[in-house]
Amino acid sequence: MSKPVPVTFHDTDLEEIATAKGRVAVVVTPDGRMDAGARRANRLTKGALKRMIEAGVMEDAKPGDVISLSWPTGMAAEALDIVCLPRTAKPDLLRKAGSALGKLKDHKSFLVLAGQVRRPEELALGLSLRAYDFTARKTAGDKDAGEVRMMVADSDAAEAAYGPAAAVAEGVFLTRDLVNEPANHLTTTEFATRIEGLRDLGVEVEILEEARLRELGMGALLAVGHGSESPSKVAVMHWRGGTKDAAPLALVGKGVVFDTGGISLKPAAGMEDMTMDMGGAGVVTGVMHALARRKAAANVVGLVGLVENMPSERATRPGDVITSMKGETVEVINTDAEGRLVLADVMWYAQEVCKPAALVDLATLTGAIIIGLGHEKAGVFSNDDKFCGTFLKAAEAEGEGAWRMPLGEAYDEMLKSRIADMKNVGGRPAGSITAAQFLARFVKRDMPWIHLDIAGVASVKSDTAHAPKGATGWGVMALNRLVSEQFETS
Ligand code: BES
Ligand code: MN
Ligand code: ZN
Repeated sequence: MSKPVPVTFHDTDLEEIATAKGRVAVVVTPDGRMDAGARRANRLTKGALKRMIEAGVMEDAKPGDVISLSWPTGMAAEALDIVCLPRTAKPDLLRKAGSALGKLKDHKSFLVLAGQVRRPEELALGLSLRAYDFTARKTAGDKDAGEVRMMVADSDAAEAAYGPAAAVAEGVFLTRDLVNEPANHLTTTEFATRIEGLRDLGVEVEILEEARLRELGMGALLAVGHGSESPSKVAVMHWRGGTKDAAPLALVGKGVVFDTGGISLKPAAGMEDMTMDMGGAGVVTGVMHALARRKAAANVVGLVGLVENMPSERATRPGDVITSMKGETVEVINTDAEGRLVLADVMWYAQEVCKPAALVDLATLTGAIIIGLGHEKAGVFSNDDKFCGTFLKAAEAEGEGAWRMPLGEAYDEMLKSRIADMKNVGGRPAGSITAAQFLARFVKRDMPWIHLDIAGVASVKSDTAHAPKGATGWGVMALNRLVSEQFETS
């Protein structure tokens, strides 16, 4: 499993600046102010920093830009990276600057002179999130991630503040690993095994196998997994860090380990991307890891439906009518609209069994959300303005794009079926909304609920502010913040 590069915080040691191998980064302000570390780097390089500042390079640089000098004279380092950051930089800018450093590959050893940075833990978080690399399926194997040493004004304070941030970074990395993993490796069984690994952190894990799912009447979820050799499963993860009787927040994730479309088979072009169709389950697992790792004072239960959507002689046919755990029947018009079937049963189970205070579901649910919002923002649907507002603010604070979409009765009517209680598709118009509306039928009255359609943001084809291309881990940080702001007792 990929682990974030270890970051340690130290007091400024002027001797080490000359002798440090690998890369050395130095933070200066746009007006050219230097701390003791920067002044030492300037002196060693015979005034290179000062000359850059005087030439106006820093004024032209956008905050967070990095200028690299190779093999600087007077230093043992192979590169001196100069980062321009205002003293008042907010966390998002600090993370962006950290990310620009994290992008500089092969930093076996990286010394960062951050004496002027007020919240160095944010710089460190940005750096480690961007330095992620998925190497598990390359024969060269896991590269040594190296180490990052930061010289800061108050090393004890930085160390303490970085603790929870590093826990969240681990959660993000777990999510990315799961989402990047191909489907022949990450089967439903392998996914469940990795979830069981959370027991080491104190998470209670229960795996519901097919026989149990049948007893529970999860006909919708089972209809999706039916065509595959891989057994369908539901994993339930309890983190009980809050007060004993407090109702938990429930997080439900779509875990389709591969989505061929089933009998309504997808076209070949781009089908390989459907290894990421377990992205919702990946985020739920990553959040549970983060909460347990930082010992969050909250009760949170994560539930994921793990299935594979395959065509075979056992697969569900278009036109079949299935019965959900709720008891309502669904006419399957298109076997490629499978995510909502999985979620319907897991959401119902979550409410029936876990009696949550609120419910959030995450799913790579519709291609239509990518048409609407692209890869910048996830679609947010909710029946509760206040809960939704808190989430949107949390996502904004973490730099994870999110945009609210509407719900409404007219959309719900598009799901009416001639022969069953509902159809699983509502036609092409408003595809993401009718999908959300389908889920809304499985939300109990008065349950505060948010649905996150992450089809556009779970995995991307070009680098983002936080992540290299591929799995992003979108949502782990926002949900972690939602928990700390709304569900944590202390
Ligand atoms: N997993 C897909 C949605 C998806 C598409 C995720 C592209 C990521 C990238 C989902 O199961 C699906 O196939 N949805 C269909 C629904 C349609 C049949 C109503 C879609 O969006 O085309
Ligand atoms: Mn599908
Ligand atoms: Zn799908």
